Amino acid sequence: MATSKQLQFLSNDAIALDVRDGLTATPKRLPAKLFYDEIGSQIFEQITQLPEYYLTRTERSILESFAGEILQQAGPSLTLVELGAGTATKTCILIEELLQRQNRTLFYPIDVSPSALDEAVRQLGQQFPALRVNPIVADYTGGVPALGRIGGRKLVLYIGSSIGNFEPDEAVRILRRIRRTLRSGDALLLGADFAKSSKILVPAYDDAQGVTASFNKNILARLNRELDADFNLDAFRHIALWNRRVSRMEIYLESLTDQTAFLPPLDLDLTFQAGERIHTENSYKYTDAMIESILHESGFTLEQSWCDRKKWFGVHLARV
Ligand code: AVI
Repeated sequence: MATSKQLQFLSNDAIALDVRDGLTATPKRLPAKLFYDEIGSQIFEQITQLPEYYLTRTERSILESFAGEILQQAGPSLTLVELGAGTATKTCILIEELLQRQNRTLFYPIDVSPSALDEAVRQLGQQFPALRVNPIVADYTGGVPALGRIGGRKLVLYIGSSIGNFEPDEAVRILRRIRRTLRSGDALLLGADFAKSSKILVPAYDDAQGVTASFNKNILARLNRELDADFNLDAFRHIALWNRRVSRMEIYLESLTDQTAFLPPLDLDLTFQAGERIHTENSYKYTDAMIESILHESGFTLEQSWCDRKKWFGVHLARV
């Protein structure tokens, strides 16, 4: 079963070009989208259930506590849209509440993974016979023109904190592209992780069981599988650092020794010095001011926010 929010088909050529650009740069980097092959998506699912990874369960508890208030605030006669829906598991909380308020509900899950959407259609059809599900296969980051053809008042869900994996200026560009396909009165529900103590953040990205470390190393394992590379996974270690200045968790793979790896499709020898790092991911942690600012810059007005008691995670309703 495809469980990821982002599982997508990337051709070997596209991967090889990303890898060449990233691993010949200084400092070295790899794009986080490479995490999400079938295996990486399964590992991410395990991450969401780790005791240290509070994000998923905290957002779920906020939706469970405030689904009624959120839908009330969003307005009457809603059509639901979800960006990066995957199998839309958390969305069920809102769908259930919405079906108690209006007898006809349309739901447009958007995802790059057709298999995740098939699964969403199957599961939601079983659970909610009154729901009409119209899946859209698309990479929402480039905007989704089909949204402009949907009538009625839309509530666009962008939950799961995926916004945090983009640079803030890229996040604004993505939200702006979505905003352009919406009409006045439509709403956006954005889930974002709050900045907090590194004592909470670092373990969430460097758990005791080493699941996040294997998620991170899977990026090299994937290059071995798909590009026939020969990375020695044992010769890299997972690193998770809190960068307070720019309010983000930074994830790296650090070479434990001087070593080389060969990439056959590019006929490329890569050298790593002991201690050299590959930057694989950022996960931005938002403050109230940062949330207001990205929403404002992308053409939305923040109306109301909900969070858990510790203010670890926030769900924000914004209006076009
Ligand atoms: C998908 N995304 C919201 C996760 C996050 O928390 O930034 C990805 C992740 N990386 C390591 N652990 C989880």
